[in-house]
Amino acid sequence: MKQQDPGVLYSHHLGELSRRADAALARGGFDHLVIPSGTLHYQAFDDRDYPYAVNPQFKAWLPLTRLPNSWLIHTPGKRPTLVFYQPFDYWHAVPAAPSGWWVEHFDIHIIRKPDQALALLPGDPARCAIVGEPQSALGNFVPNNPEAVINHLDWHRGYKTPYEIALMRQAQVLGVRGHRAAEAAFRAGASEFEIHMAYCQAVGQDANDLPYGNIIALNEHAAVLHYTDLGRSAPQPLRSFLIDAGASACGYASDITRTYAAAGHGEFQALVDAVDAAQIKMCEAVRAGFDYKQLHIDAHLSLMGILKDFGVITVSPEAALATGVSAAFFPHGIGHLIGAQVHDVAGFAAGEHGGRIERPAGHPYLRLTRVLEPGMVVTIEPGLYFIDMLLEEVKKAGNAASINWGRVDFFRPYGGVRIEDEVLCTEGQADNLTRPAFAAAATD
Ligand code: GLY
Ligand code: MN
Ligand code: MN
Repeated sequence: MKQQDPGVLYSHHLGELSRRADAALARGGFDHLVIPSGTLHYQAFDDRDYPYAVNPQFKAWLPLTRLPNSWLIHTPGKRPTLVFYQPFDYWHAVPAAPSGWWVEHFDIHIIRKPDQALALLPGDPARCAIVGEPQSALGNFVPNNPEAVINHLDWHRGYKTPYEIALMRQAQVLGVRGHRAAEAAFRAGASEFEIHMAYCQAVGQDANDLPYGNIIALNEHAAVLHYTDLGRSAPQPLRSFLIDAGASACGYASDITRTYAAAGHGEFQALVDAVDAAQIKMCEAVRAGFDYKQLHIDAHLSLMGILKDFGVITVSPEAALATGVSAAFFPHGIGHLIGAQVHDVAGFAAGEHGGRIERPAGHPYLRLTRVLEPGMVVTIEPGLYFIDMLLEEVKKAGNAASINWGRVDFFRPYGGVRIEDEVLCTEGQADNLTRPAFAAAATD
């Protein structure tokens, strides 16, 4: 499997980010880009902090995901500055001194107290595009998040650099490690909570690092799209297992879903296999110039073809799409951009100046409406679910005859199926980042 050293690629990445920042500053009429890493958030009426989530704009520049109260400063034509917060603190673990392949590219200033950053930030806050959350304000350095600057930065984050792709491949390898441990735990009869623990153990990450909360669903729970309750005992009998879980590599995400049938549940296994085969074809459709909205519509037709074959719907895929029946079985989007954020920014952006490409009518959960271009990484995550509240809507709309309800009764106890990979759009064929990681793990 192709694996490149991110350290070797970092200098190019930083150069690209600097060029993007220069253009963004020119567009907004600012002299400096100032990015706070963010601060801790505390629970209401309590001194407990939530897991720290670094400002995504900060981790796009630096492989540092646990460095609150720090600042990055980019001024066109100058080496970037990093104000690095390393407090004197014996209550908590303190960030280690800067080290690694990124260090040589920055002027680094260590501070021991958050407000020591003020002396190191540019002289005039009014000349700064300060990109961060309101809570990061320090003195007169209040995040102003200029729209022109953010639009430009976000748009270009859609095109991954080789450094980012190398990290995203690492995140696949980690996630796949967890998925294999999770499948083994399922086969051994583990509960959702135990499967979750097996996943975290194999990946070496928990809620502080994972790009989103693990979705671990046995049997009917798979019909809840983001089921995160983690039951403490395994249901009997075990019929199905849906896991949607990722991993992080220097802050870059993977987002992977697999569905398994328990032994002896051949018909559900056949449904999983059919969705899997269709998903592979959808991944292959990721190519430059292809409209992602069309990919979503094509996925509806493909999935309804499967339901027709399995006797769940009685009408043509086209009719199921036109009447909204397909949206009852496939009620989410086919996927999204992914990178430093699992649902990455600018999925609806019309251009680097902003503007919005709307979703097609009747598809309120699609998160990406752009035409695919080389460098974009997208998820492809078709699913079929048996969700009573949505099927009731089909009845209310007068389309009950479009569905074979006996077949719904048969599949309802399995919850649903989702298969999700990441795919890099290239100048040529689609580059599936996820499947080679599974194939390599199978031969380990
Ligand atoms: N794991 C959330 C998603 O697939 O978008
Ligand atoms: Mn996803
Ligand atoms: Mn997912």
